[in-house]
Amino acid sequence: MRILITGASGLLGLNLALETTHRHTVFGTVNTHALQTDAFTVIQTNLLAPGAVERLLEQTQPDWVIHCAALANLDACEADPLLAEQLNTELPRKLASHVARGGARLVYISTDAVFDGKRGDYTEEDAPHPVGVYSLTKLNGELAVAEADPSAIIARVNLYGWSLSGKRSLGEFFYNNLSAGKRVMGFTDVIFCPLLVNDLAHILVKMLEKKLSGLYHVVSAESLSKYDFGVRLAHRFSLDTGLITPTSVNQSGLKAARSPNLSLRSDKLAQVLGETLPTLSPGLDRFYTLYQQGYPQMIRSLESK
Ligand SMILES: NC(=O)c1ccc[n+]([C@@H]2O[C@H](COP(=O)([O-])OP(=O)(O)OC[C@H]3O[C@@H](n4cnc5c(N)ncnc54)[C@H](OP(=O)(O)O)[C@@H]3O)[C@@H](O)[C@H]2O)c1
Repeated sequence: MRILITGASGLLGLNLALETTHRHTVFGTVNTHALQTDAFTVIQTNLLAPGAVERLLEQTQPDWVIHCAALANLDACEADPLLAEQLNTELPRKLASHVARGGARLVYISTDAVFDGKRGDYTEEDAPHPVGVYSLTKLNGELAVAEADPSAIIARVNLYGWSLSGKRSLGEFFYNNLSAGKRVMGFTDVIFCPLLVNDLAHILVKMLEKKLSGLYHVVSAESLSKYDFGVRLAHRFSLDTGLITPTSVNQSGLKAARSPNLSLRSDKLAQVLGETLPTLSPGLDRFYTLYQQGYPQMIRSLESK
Protein backbone atom coordinates (compact mmCIF):
# COMPACT_ATOMS: atom_id res chain seq x y z
CA MET A 1 0.00 0.00 0.00
CA ARG A 2 0.98 3.63 -0.41
CA ILE A 3 0.61 5.13 3.07
CA LEU A 4 0.60 8.85 3.73
CA ILE A 5 1.36 9.68 7.36
CA THR A 6 0.92 13.29 8.45
CA GLY A 7 2.94 14.41 11.46
CA ALA A 8 5.84 12.01 10.80
CA SER A 9 8.13 13.96 13.13
CA GLY A 10 5.68 13.42 16.00
CA LEU A 11 5.65 10.62 18.56
CA LEU A 12 3.01 8.58 16.76
CA GLY A 13 3.74 9.54 13.15
CA LEU A 14 7.46 8.78 13.27
CA ASN A 15 7.11 5.40 14.97
CA LEU A 16 4.23 4.53 12.65
CA ALA A 17 6.34 5.37 9.60
CA LEU A 18 9.26 3.27 10.87
CA GLU A 19 7.00 0.32 11.77
CA THR A 20 5.18 0.25 8.40
CA THR A 21 7.91 1.09 5.93
CA HIS A 22 9.18 -2.52 5.56
CA ARG A 23 5.92 -3.72 4.01
CA HIS A 24 4.54 -0.53 2.46
CA THR A 25 5.54 2.58 0.53
CA VAL A 26 5.47 5.32 3.15
CA PHE A 27 5.34 9.09 2.78
CA GLY A 28 5.64 11.12 5.98
CA THR A 29 5.07 14.83 6.40
CA VAL A 30 7.00 17.13 8.70
CA ASN A 31 6.51 20.82 9.35
CA THR A 32 9.05 22.56 11.60
CA HIS A 33 11.30 19.53 12.11
CA ALA A 34 13.63 18.23 9.41
CA LEU A 35 14.17 14.47 9.15
CA GLN A 36 17.11 12.75 7.50
CA THR A 37 16.19 9.16 6.67
CA ASP A 38 16.12 6.68 3.80
CA ALA A 39 13.46 4.63 5.60
CA PHE A 40 10.57 6.56 4.05
CA THR A 41 9.92 9.60 1.86
CA VAL A 42 9.91 12.77 3.95
CA ILE A 43 7.80 15.68 2.72
CA GLN A 44 8.15 19.07 4.34
CA THR A 45 4.83 20.95 4.34
CA ASN A 46 2.79 23.27 6.50
CA LEU A 47 -0.60 21.61 6.13
CA LEU A 48 -2.35 24.87 7.01
CA ALA A 49 -0.89 26.64 3.96
CA PRO A 50 -3.36 27.24 1.13
CA GLY A 51 -3.38 24.30 -1.31
CA ALA A 52 -1.04 22.16 0.84
CA VAL A 53 -3.51 19.30 1.38
CA GLU A 54 -4.43 19.15 -2.30
CA ARG A 55 -0.74 19.19 -3.39
CA LEU A 56 0.18 16.50 -0.88
CA LEU A 57 -2.53 14.10 -2.01
CA GLU A 58 -1.73 14.74 -5.66
CA GLN A 59 1.98 14.13 -5.03
CA THR A 60 1.61 10.94 -2.97
CA GLN A 61 -1.52 9.27 -4.43
CA PRO A 62 -2.10 7.33 -1.19
CA ASP A 63 -4.22 4.22 -0.61
CA TRP A 64 -4.26 4.93 3.12
CA VAL A 65 -3.90 8.26 4.95
CA ILE A 66 -3.13 8.18 8.68
CA HIS A 67 -3.58 11.69 10.03
CA CYS A 68 -1.36 12.14 13.08
CA ALA A 69 -0.49 15.86 12.69
CA ALA A 70 -2.15 17.94 15.40
CA LEU A 71 -1.61 20.56 18.05
CA ALA A 72 -1.35 17.93 20.76
CA ASN A 73 0.11 20.00 23.58
CA LEU A 74 -2.67 20.91 26.02
CA ASP A 75 -1.10 24.15 27.23
CA ALA A 76 -0.32 25.28 23.64
CA CYS A 77 -3.99 24.71 22.76
CA GLU A 78 -5.15 26.83 25.70
CA ALA A 79 -2.69 29.57 24.67
CA ASP A 80 -3.79 29.60 21.00
CA PRO A 81 -7.35 28.25 20.63
CA LEU A 82 -7.59 29.47 17.04
CA LEU A 83 -4.54 27.49 15.94
CA ALA A 84 -5.89 24.49 17.86
CA GLU A 85 -9.17 24.75 15.97
CA GLN A 86 -7.39 25.09 12.61
CA LEU A 87 -5.11 22.10 13.22
CA ASN A 88 -7.35 19.79 15.21
CA THR A 89 -10.73 20.47 13.58
CA GLU A 90 -10.54 22.35 10.27
CA LEU A 91 -7.51 20.52 8.83
CA PRO A 92 -9.04 17.05 9.46
CA ARG A 93 -12.32 18.27 7.94
CA LYS A 94 -10.52 19.37 4.78
CA LEU A 95 -8.34 16.28 4.59
CA ALA A 96 -11.35 13.98 5.05
CA SER A 97 -13.36 15.60 2.27
CA HIS A 98 -10.42 15.40 -0.18
CA VAL A 99 -9.56 11.82 0.81
CA ALA A 100 -13.19 10.75 0.44
CA ARG A 101 -13.32 12.22 -3.06
CA GLY A 102 -10.06 10.53 -4.07
CA GLY A 103 -11.12 7.07 -2.80
CA ALA A 104 -8.33 6.52 -0.24
CA ARG A 105 -9.01 5.27 3.31
CA LEU A 106 -8.47 7.68 6.21
CA VAL A 107 -7.60 7.20 9.86
CA TYR A 108 -8.13 10.23 12.07
CA ILE A 109 -6.21 9.99 15.32
CA SER A 110 -8.25 11.30 18.22
CA THR A 111 -7.80 11.14 21.96
CA ASP A 112 -9.13 9.55 25.16
CA ALA A 113 -9.39 13.13 26.45
CA VAL A 114 -12.73 13.74 24.67
CA PHE A 115 -14.22 12.49 27.97
CA ASP A 116 -14.28 14.53 31.17
CA GLY A 117 -12.94 11.59 33.18
CA LYS A 118 -15.54 11.87 35.92
CA ARG A 119 -16.53 8.22 35.57
CA GLY A 120 -14.07 6.16 33.49
CA ASP A 121 -14.60 2.81 31.74
CA TYR A 122 -15.98 4.64 28.69
CA THR A 123 -17.25 2.84 25.59
CA GLU A 124 -17.71 4.28 22.11
CA GLU A 125 -21.41 4.67 22.99
CA ASP A 126 -20.75 7.08 25.86
CA ALA A 127 -21.31 10.78 25.24
CA PRO A 128 -18.03 12.71 25.19
CA HIS A 129 -17.64 15.80 27.34
CA PRO A 130 -14.40 17.64 26.62
CA VAL A 131 -12.91 19.80 29.38
CA GLY A 132 -10.42 22.02 27.53
CA VAL A 133 -9.49 23.53 24.17
CA TYR A 134 -7.42 20.51 23.08
CA SER A 135 -10.18 18.01 23.85
CA LEU A 136 -12.92 20.16 22.36
CA THR A 137 -11.06 20.77 19.10
CA LYS A 138 -10.19 17.05 18.81
CA LEU A 139 -13.82 16.07 19.39
CA ASN A 140 -14.92 18.59 16.78
CA GLY A 141 -12.31 17.02 14.49
CA GLU A 142 -13.96 13.62 15.02
CA LEU A 143 -17.37 15.04 14.13
CA ALA A 144 -16.02 16.88 11.07
CA VAL A 145 -14.25 13.75 9.77
CA ALA A 146 -17.30 11.52 10.33
CA GLU A 147 -19.42 13.97 8.38
CA ALA A 148 -16.99 14.47 5.49
CA ASP A 149 -15.93 10.81 5.18
CA PRO A 150 -18.26 8.31 6.90
CA SER A 151 -15.94 5.44 5.92
CA ALA A 152 -13.03 6.92 7.89
CA ILE A 153 -11.67 5.25 11.01
CA ILE A 154 -11.69 7.49 14.08
CA ALA A 155 -9.21 6.08 16.57
CA ARG A 156 -9.18 7.39 20.14
CA VAL A 157 -5.71 6.63 21.44
CA ASN A 158 -3.35 7.06 24.36
CA LEU A 159 0.29 6.23 23.80
CA TYR A 160 3.86 6.27 25.00
CA GLY A 161 7.13 5.45 23.28
CA TRP A 162 10.48 6.78 22.13
CA SER A 163 10.35 10.11 20.27
CA LEU A 164 12.46 12.46 18.15
CA SER A 165 12.92 14.98 20.98
CA GLY A 166 13.51 12.21 23.52
CA LYS A 167 10.92 13.80 25.82
CA ARG A 168 7.52 13.68 24.13
CA SER A 169 5.98 10.79 26.03
CA LEU A 170 5.26 9.95 29.65
CA GLY A 171 7.42 6.85 29.30
CA GLU A 172 10.38 9.03 28.37
CA PHE A 173 9.56 11.48 31.19
CA PHE A 174 9.85 8.75 33.80
CA TYR A 175 12.87 7.11 32.16
CA ASN A 176 14.79 10.41 31.70
CA ASN A 177 14.23 11.67 35.22
CA LEU A 178 14.62 8.42 37.13
CA SER A 179 17.75 7.43 35.24
CA ALA A 180 19.22 10.85 36.12
CA GLY A 181 18.35 10.26 39.78
CA LYS A 182 15.74 13.06 39.78
CA ARG A 183 12.58 13.10 41.88
CA VAL A 184 9.26 13.31 39.98
CA MET A 185 5.58 13.50 40.81
CA GLY A 186 3.38 10.56 39.86
CA PHE A 187 -0.34 11.31 39.74
CA THR A 188 -2.31 8.80 41.75
CA ASP A 189 -5.69 10.16 40.64
CA VAL A 190 -5.20 10.32 36.84
CA ILE A 191 -6.12 6.98 35.27
CA PHE A 192 -5.34 6.05 31.67
CA CYS A 193 -4.78 3.11 29.29
CA PRO A 194 -1.41 3.76 27.62
CA LEU A 195 -0.44 1.68 24.61
CA LEU A 196 3.14 1.41 23.33
CA VAL A 197 3.24 3.45 20.12
CA ASN A 198 4.90 0.59 18.19
CA ASP A 199 2.03 -1.74 19.11
CA LEU A 200 -0.49 0.98 18.27
CA ALA A 201 1.10 1.29 14.80
CA HIS A 202 0.49 -2.39 14.03
CA ILE A 203 -3.07 -2.28 15.35
CA LEU A 204 -3.90 0.73 13.13
CA VAL A 205 -2.61 -1.19 10.10
CA LYS A 206 -4.73 -4.21 11.05
CA MET A 207 -7.77 -1.96 11.28
CA LEU A 208 -7.11 -0.67 7.78
CA GLU A 209 -6.49 -4.17 6.43
CA LYS A 210 -9.81 -5.25 7.91
CA LYS A 211 -11.47 -2.26 6.19
CA LEU A 212 -13.01 -1.02 9.44
CA SER A 213 -14.75 2.32 9.61
CA GLY A 214 -16.21 4.45 12.37
CA LEU A 215 -15.22 5.12 15.96
CA TYR A 216 -12.90 2.83 17.95
CA HIS A 217 -11.06 3.05 21.25
CA VAL A 218 -7.51 1.91 20.48
CA VAL A 219 -5.93 1.79 23.92
CA SER A 220 -4.36 -0.72 26.28
CA ALA A 221 -6.68 -3.35 27.74
CA GLU A 222 -5.30 -2.35 31.16
CA SER A 223 -5.98 0.92 33.00
CA LEU A 224 -3.80 2.29 35.77
CA SER A 225 -2.77 5.57 37.42
CA LYS A 226 0.12 7.61 36.08
CA TYR A 227 1.89 6.93 39.39
CA ASP A 228 1.51 3.17 38.90
CA PHE A 229 2.71 3.51 35.30
CA GLY A 230 5.88 5.24 36.56
CA VAL A 231 6.45 2.55 39.19
CA ARG A 232 5.93 -0.30 36.69
CA LEU A 233 8.30 1.39 34.23
CA ALA A 234 10.88 1.94 36.97
CA HIS A 235 10.73 -1.76 37.86
CA ARG A 236 11.19 -2.75 34.21
CA PHE A 237 14.27 -0.53 33.86
CA SER A 238 15.58 -1.39 37.35
CA LEU A 239 15.31 2.26 38.41
CA ASP A 240 14.53 3.65 41.87
CA THR A 241 10.74 3.72 42.41
CA GLY A 242 11.33 5.78 45.58
CA LEU A 243 12.06 8.79 43.36
CA ILE A 244 8.39 8.90 42.33
CA THR A 245 6.30 10.90 44.79
CA PRO A 246 2.62 9.89 44.78
CA THR A 247 0.77 13.17 44.14
CA SER A 248 -2.76 14.39 43.41
CA VAL A 249 -3.04 16.21 40.07
CA ASN A 250 -4.72 19.09 41.92
CA GLN A 251 -1.42 19.78 43.71
CA SER A 252 0.61 19.70 40.50
CA GLY A 253 0.30 23.30 39.28
CA LEU A 254 -0.43 22.16 35.70
CA LYS A 255 -2.19 24.88 33.69
CA ALA A 256 -4.63 23.01 31.43
CA ALA A 257 -7.36 20.95 33.11
CA ARG A 258 -6.76 17.16 33.12
CA SER A 259 -9.51 14.56 33.08
CA PRO A 260 -9.06 12.28 36.09
CA ASN A 261 -10.32 8.88 34.91
CA LEU A 262 -9.72 8.25 31.22
CA SER A 263 -10.01 4.49 31.33
CA LEU A 264 -11.56 3.44 28.01
CA ARG A 265 -13.00 0.09 27.04
CA SER A 266 -11.56 -1.40 23.86
CA ASP A 267 -13.94 -4.39 23.64
CA LYS A 268 -15.46 -3.19 20.35
CA LEU A 269 -12.10 -3.33 18.61
CA ALA A 270 -11.02 -6.53 20.38
CA GLN A 271 -14.13 -8.23 19.09
CA VAL A 272 -13.61 -7.30 15.42
CA LEU A 273 -9.88 -8.05 15.57
CA GLY A 274 -10.49 -11.34 17.40
CA GLU A 275 -7.83 -10.51 20.01
CA THR A 276 -7.64 -8.38 23.15
CA LEU A 277 -5.46 -5.31 22.99
CA PRO A 278 -2.08 -5.52 24.75
CA THR A 279 -1.86 -4.97 28.51
CA LEU A 280 0.91 -2.85 30.04
CA SER A 281 3.57 -5.50 30.77
CA PRO A 282 4.20 -6.69 27.17
CA GLY A 283 4.30 -3.04 26.08
CA LEU A 284 6.83 -2.11 28.77
CA ASP A 285 8.87 -5.21 27.88
CA ARG A 286 9.09 -4.04 24.26
CA PHE A 287 9.76 -0.43 25.34
CA TYR A 288 12.70 -1.81 27.32
CA THR A 289 13.89 -4.09 24.50
CA LEU A 290 13.85 -1.15 22.09
CA TYR A 291 15.91 0.79 24.61
CA GLN A 292 18.46 -2.04 24.82
CA GLN A 293 18.64 -2.12 21.01
CA GLY A 294 19.51 1.59 20.83
CA TYR A 295 16.18 2.58 19.30
CA PRO A 296 15.92 5.89 21.26
CA GLN A 297 19.31 7.02 19.90
CA MET A 298 18.40 5.81 16.39
CA ILE A 299 15.16 7.83 16.49
CA ARG A 300 16.88 10.97 17.76
CA SER A 301 19.60 10.66 15.10
CA LEU A 302 16.96 11.09 12.37
CA GLU A 303 16.57 14.78 13.13
CA SER A 304 18.71 16.84 10.79
CA LYS A 305 19.65 20.16 12.32
N1 LIG B 1 0.96 11.88 22.66
C1 LIG B 1 -0.10 11.45 23.35
O1 LIG B 1 0.02 11.05 24.50
C2 LIG B 1 -1.47 11.43 22.70
C3 LIG B 1 -2.56 11.00 23.47
C4 LIG B 1 -3.81 10.94 22.89
C5 LIG B 1 -3.97 11.31 21.56
N2 LIG B 1 -2.91 11.76 20.83
C6 LIG B 1 -3.14 12.15 19.45
O2 LIG B 1 -2.23 11.42 18.65
C7 LIG B 1 -1.85 12.20 17.50
C8 LIG B 1 -0.35 12.26 17.43
O3 LIG B 1 0.14 12.87 18.61
P1 LIG B 1 1.70 13.02 18.88
O4 LIG B 1 1.91 12.99 20.34
O5 LIG B 1 2.43 12.09 17.99
O6 LIG B 1 1.92 14.52 18.37
P2 LIG B 1 3.28 15.37 18.37
O7 LIG B 1 4.41 14.52 18.82
O8 LIG B 1 3.01 16.63 19.10
O9 LIG B 1 3.46 15.69 16.83
C9 LIG B 1 2.61 16.56 16.16
C10 LIG B 1 2.92 16.48 14.68
O10 LIG B 1 2.06 17.41 13.99
C11 LIG B 1 2.87 18.12 13.06
N3 LIG B 1 2.28 19.43 12.77
C12 LIG B 1 1.91 20.38 13.66
N4 LIG B 1 1.48 21.48 12.99
C13 LIG B 1 1.56 21.20 11.68
C14 LIG B 1 1.27 21.92 10.50
N5 LIG B 1 0.79 23.17 10.52
N6 LIG B 1 1.48 21.32 9.29
C15 LIG B 1 1.98 20.06 9.23
N7 LIG B 1 2.26 19.33 10.33
C16 LIG B 1 2.07 19.89 11.54
C17 LIG B 1 4.21 18.27 13.75
O11 LIG B 1 5.21 18.59 12.79
P3 LIG B 1 6.60 19.36 13.24
O12 LIG B 1 6.95 18.81 14.60
O13 LIG B 1 7.57 18.95 12.17
O14 LIG B 1 6.30 20.80 13.26
C18 LIG B 1 4.36 16.86 14.34
O15 LIG B 1 4.86 15.98 13.36
C19 LIG B 1 -2.53 13.55 17.68
O16 LIG B 1 -3.71 13.56 16.93
C20 LIG B 1 -2.87 13.61 19.15
O17 LIG B 1 -4.01 14.40 19.36
C21 LIG B 1 -1.66 11.83 21.38
